[in-house]
Amino acid sequence: MNKVVVITGASSGIGETTAKLLAQDGDLLVLGARREAKLQQIVSDIEAAGGKAVYALTDVTSLESVQALAKLALDKFGHIDVWMNNAGLMPHSEFIKGKVADWNRMIDVNLRGLLYGIDAALPSMRAQKSGQFINVASVAAHAVHPGGGVYSATKAGVLMISEALRQEEAAAKSNVRVTVVSPGAVATELVDHVTDQSTKQALEGYYKQNAISPERVATSIKAAIDLPADAALNEIIIRPTQQE
Ligand SMILES: NC(=O)c1ccc[n+]([C@@H]2O[C@H](COP(=O)([O-])OP(=O)(O)OC[C@H]3O[C@@H](n4cnc5c(N)ncnc54)[C@H](OP(=O)(O)O)[C@@H]3O)[C@@H](O)[C@H]2O)c1
Repeated sequence: MNKVVVITGASSGIGETTAKLLAQDGDLLVLGARREAKLQQIVSDIEAAGGKAVYALTDVTSLESVQALAKLALDKFGHIDVWMNNAGLMPHSEFIKGKVADWNRMIDVNLRGLLYGIDAALPSMRAQKSGQFINVASVAAHAVHPGGGVYSATKAGVLMISEALRQEEAAAKSNVRVTVVSPGAVATELVDHVTDQSTKQALEGYYKQNAISPERVATSIKAAIDLPADAALNEIIIRPTQQE
């Protein structure tokens, strides 16, 4: 479709898989994450398959860094059609463990990072009177379980921010669409970064049994992007068929 698509957290999992799927169809990818070797490899995989992608080392907890990612897209391709706020982490633990650093990282990446993405991309979308945000939340935005309090709070925040953004852009008649993607268990690196060892073990067992491939999520994101511009898929909840 030749859209310019910016993806944060593009170095693995859902972000990487979505980038590769969209590039196959001719979209122009602008990738952001912190691990340069991974980003270089993904760009060269995309180019080897005949696609087009560039990257910028991006830490979404820094507004300047996210602004630089947007600038790369605008300098290289002239405009931004889709901005996918995907960077995120899920270091579950019960409150009694006192993992304050993990709580802060989730707030900084899952919430502040998303807000910085909106700030970096929205003005140019308003000006061109078109655009789309793909904001990655989670089924955890809709339900909470022990150990998941802070993660669910950040993902419920993604849902609320997205809905307010949708209403504002509808009222402004800007044609900017907002899509929330709320996955269940998906086989990515997400669980690798859980710092509480007993929680990590339990999650690894659960994911091994239940998680679906990130291709499933990428396919649903592509459907939301490819929908004609007068309609918006506002939330996609996609989970393994057998996930309770
Ligand atoms: N997998 C699931 O079961 C599941 C379910 C529901 C929702 N989600 C959501 O899906 C999104 C993608 O996660 P994933 O499952 O694909 O996990 P993943 O493989 O761990 O990917 C997370 C991505 O976020 C990036 N990231 C982390 N901190 C960052 C920072 N400060 N700045 C920039 N990028 C950062 C990582 O790249 P670097 O380390 O290179 O920076 C990585 O590319 C997350 O928002 C997650 O909450 C996942």
